[in-house]
Amino acid sequence: MNTEIFLGALRLKNPVLAASGTFGYGEEFKDFLKPKDIGAIVTKTITFSPRQGNLPPRITETAAGMLNSIGLENKGLDDFIKNKAPGFRKLKTPVIVSIAGDSPREYGELAKKLCAAGISAIELNLSCPNLKNSKLISQDPKTTYEVVKAVRKAAKAAIIAKLTPNVTDIREIAIAAEEAGADSVSLVNTFLGMGIDVNTRRPRLGNITGGLSGPAIKPIALRMVWETAGVVKIPVVGMGGIMTADEALEFIIAGASAVEIGTANFIEPKTSLNVVSGIKDYMRKNKIKDIKELIGSIRYK
Ligand SMILES: Cc1cc2nc3c(=O)[nH]c(=O)nc-3n(C[C@H](O)[C@H](O)[C@H](O)COP(=O)(O)O)c2cc1C
Repeated sequence: MNTEIFLGALRLKNPVLAASGTFGYGEEFKDFLKPKDIGAIVTKTITFSPRQGNLPPRITETAAGMLNSIGLENKGLDDFIKNKAPGFRKLKTPVIVSIAGDSPREYGELAKKLCAAGISAIELNLSCPNLKNSKLISQDPKTTYEVVKAVRKAAKAAIIAKLTPNVTDIREIAIAAEEAGADSVSLVNTFLGMGIDVNTRRPRLGNITGGLSGPAIKPIALRMVWETAGVVKIPVVGMGGIMTADEALEFIIAGASAVEIGTANFIEPKTSLNVVSGIKDYMRKNKIKDIKELIGSIRYK
């Protein structure tokens, strides 16, 4: 049975990744699972300089998911290269570093320095404000193109462009990323939302608004992955509310070459592992020899 997939030059032994911001830097989860058993780990997003993040509270539960407004808290690039990157080899699975910058140039610089430090795969968190027009980068095809192009020029790494779902038509953004040289696109990041505590009449999040994730977003994320897979030739990495192997399989059948598991890690830290074994069980039961037979296999009657 073959579960291997490629995202550009990046080979993954199976199509299940841990999503950015929900799995730390990999090390934190080693009491729950062996990182080598999952396809790859995407790190929490890092930025050039340290960031303190948003005012608390930063997380609140919703009926079928959670809202977060962490605000990219991290210790910055230099600390990451010195204290986190050296431990990655021990994890024995590819580590994809998620980055965010203020401009195409800053994204390029970050990628260049990471490559020099031995990192070979990068996920571009494009859900950051674009300083020029106050939209998020991946709400605008032109800025998306500029950022991906800058990283493509600066670094030899495999590039995954991660898109925001807070757009009217995600396909035009995915096409811009592909044209600029991304090796794959991943979607979705969180949906903009908010919650109010009626007793205090205050917002539930310190930042007022935040990103909705978890089961509530799954049908919308699935639709967006299916739409995107229909228009790009590069692999699509799907995510949004995946809790079980069957849900991961829905994304794969809709056209995702791989999936990322996010919010589920907070409920059951072994979810990625359970999804890997569930996909293998399904393949065995349905006599599927290669995961590629399943990718985009949806049929219309
Ligand atoms: C607490 C939390 C922190 C997150 N931090 C990041 C981040 O730093 N960078 C990023 O690209 N996505 C981040 N995300 C988004 C997830 O990677 C994922 O795209 C999203 O939550 C949808 O998947 P899910 O429903 O499986 O969680 C975060 C999500 C959560 C819940």
